[in-house]
Amino acid sequence: MDNLVADMLHTPLFDQAEAVRWRMTDIPWAAIDPAAASADLRRLVREIAFSELTTFSATRRFMVDFADDVDLTQWIAVWFYEETKHPNALLRWLHHLGVGVDDQFVLKGRATAPFMRSRMGTYVTNIISELVASAAYMHLHEQSPEPVLAQIGQHLASDEARHCASFYRFAQRHLERAKAPEAERRDALKVLYMWFQGNELVRHPVNEFFNRNEIPFDFQGVRDRVTRLVGGLIGMEIDGTTDLIAEMRKRGENHEAT
Ligand SMILES: [Fe+2]
Ligand SMILES: [Fe+2]
Repeated sequence: MDNLVADMLHTPLFDQAEAVRWRMTDIPWAAIDPAAASADLRRLVREIAFSELTTFSATRRFMVDFADDVDLTQWIAVWFYEETKHPNALLRWLHHLGVGVDDQFVLKGRATAPFMRSRMGTYVTNIISELVASAAYMHLHEQSPEPVLAQIGQHLASDEARHCASFYRFAQRHLERAKAPEAERRDALKVLYMWFQGNELVRHPVNEFFNRNEIPFDFQGVRDRVTRLVGGLIGMEIDGTTDLIAEMRKRGENHEAT
């Protein structure tokens, strides 16, 4: 990049992040209604907070594996800051309800998140998990019987949606500049395929909670959005009926090679 500030994606993405930033001090902690926070809801929030902590290991990996990418690594600093606020907001909500965690809880939660050798694969993994997180928090926002948690859910849902869009921009740029774009598309398809296989959406703590409490959650809608988004990124029309393995093979390698 010759003209760094003009060319970086970080520049508009940072401005956007600043413009929509919510503050921890904006949350009306004193308004938390303990009667509306069941033991099951508190357990769910603890699980979500725990699952948010992997950002630490992911950031470490981004800083090492993408060390030559000035643009992305600067944006990761913004992402890391915002992602650190997420479990913190949830733990504060619990704290106001008399539920505490110790530093071991946080250290355990920081356990290494899986990372791929392929940069495109890493981008697509993050695009998917941000989209899923956003949908889950939006649902929490709409369904939480406790109003302050509903508000936190809304803040987190918008952060995650913006993160999804930001990773998407970096992935698009990566693909535009790729020497072998078909291999990049294949890596994107691999991640999508593995995500379908892993059924992670079904095992997501938010979804398990909704199931336990018989609150309907639109899985299929989230799956369709993920599929369309990844398809749009790699310029393919894909849906639930697409033979992803055949599409990967067309791009030169079998699906076991991640
Ligand atoms: Fe998050
Ligand atoms: Fe996020």
